Amino acid sequence: MILYQAYVRSFAADLQGARARLGHLARLGVDALWLSPVHPSPNVDWGYDVADYLAIHDDYGSLDDYDALVAEARTHGIDVWLDLVPNHSSDRHAWFWERPEYYVWSKDVPNDWRSVFTRGSAWTRDERRKRYYLHQFAPQQPDLDWWNPDVRAEFEKILRFWFDRGVRGLRIDVAHALIKDRELRDGVEHMRNRPEVHEIYARWQEIAAEYDPKPMLMGETYVSLDELPPFWQHLDLAQNFAFLRAEFTLEALRPIVEQTMKAIPANRRPVWFGSNHDHSRMATRWAGGDEAKHRAALFLLLTLPGIVILYQGDEIGLEDGRVPPDCVLDVADPSRDPERTPMPWTRSGEEWPDPWLPLLDTSRNVEDQENDSGSILSYTRELIDARKTFADDSYETLAAPAGVWAYRRGQKTCVLNLSASAASYGGRKLAPWEGIVL
Ligand code: GLC
Repeated sequence: MILYQAYVRSFAADLQGARARLGHLARLGVDALWLSPVHPSPNVDWGYDVADYLAIHDDYGSLDDYDALVAEARTHGIDVWLDLVPNHSSDRHAWFWERPEYYVWSKDVPNDWRSVFTRGSAWTRDERRKRYYLHQFAPQQPDLDWWNPDVRAEFEKILRFWFDRGVRGLRIDVAHALIKDRELRDGVEHMRNRPEVHEIYARWQEIAAEYDPKPMLMGETYVSLDELPPFWQHLDLAQNFAFLRAEFTLEALRPIVEQTMKAIPANRRPVWFGSNHDHSRMATRWAGGDEAKHRAALFLLLTLPGIVILYQGDEIGLEDGRVPPDCVLDVADPSRDPERTPMPWTRSGEEWPDPWLPLLDTSRNVEDQENDSGSILSYTRELIDARKTFADDSYETLAAPAGVWAYRRGQKTCVLNLSASAASYGGRKLAPWEGIVL
């Protein structure tokens, strides 16, 4: 399966815009479209601070626009997935005032937990309530208290609301950290990755199982590879951040793939990706702008077993955008704006009359690559077609010369030269960074 992540504001501005680009996704051969959060939000964290889980942000359109997107996507054989943010809401969510017991409070600052964004204390005093509340991220993103059964009940309603409306999958934000230590003990290990979190996903699977086809649950499991296996119990898919964070070398990546394939249970599939809205794009971070290297990264992603996530722009080799200091919008430091700049559909950039982040470089754009059989876009399509010929989801490393990664995939053999020198495999010559399927 190929899942395509659209950071909606930069993909095509809104839901009608996304709908107009479905043809691009269909031609690519995408199976599902994951929309970054589309709910009403004051945009402190650009949608990852949700003010209403049961509605669509005005900037993106209406529930009707959402329904129309789902319906039209289905005619292309594309499922729509939403991004669910259950760890925290916005401080503008009605709950924060009306249902304070949904959040995590303390009379004093109880421990040394730090905010991921501010790096200061994860506790902020609410003057109205004369107590401190927990926020793993920005102070405007109070953490929900998942020990409270009412919070669980609210989210069960939210799940059903969207499953009833045709959502076929959820990407679960901060999936490893919903539950915190009940005693609020010191140590960051008590703020995340606690065993009780799996009960939540077990319950969500029961709800998903009421639907046919059963919607998929994919966790943003921001943990090490050793910590990943428990998430495979009740999540269909657990995102593999060790892979994304690795350097783009054979020595770094191959052991991660091997360890993942060894650890994964028979009923689960791995998830590979090289870019998302929080990390420098792979065309920059892995390939350093080198097109041949970016093709190697695409080759690897699209020939590995399981699920691949393409982040918007990966298919055209889009690099991080340049965002002048006075244009920075992200709440986090360092800013994640460079990986969130608009998708260049044309060289003129006319489709972005008023972009929310600057679009300064359109040299790699969809239109130019569309009809060029030698483009990165065409190469991506070829890889996706080739992928469909692999008989199964098995993986086996094969012996290969230095710098070359060879692996068996079903009836086929994939050979990737992950080096800047020419190489050969079984009598076949390989240019630097070249991949071939035999
Ligand atoms: C996740 C999201 C990120 C967001 C954070 C807080 O890591 O991917 O964009 O800022 O959660 O919701």
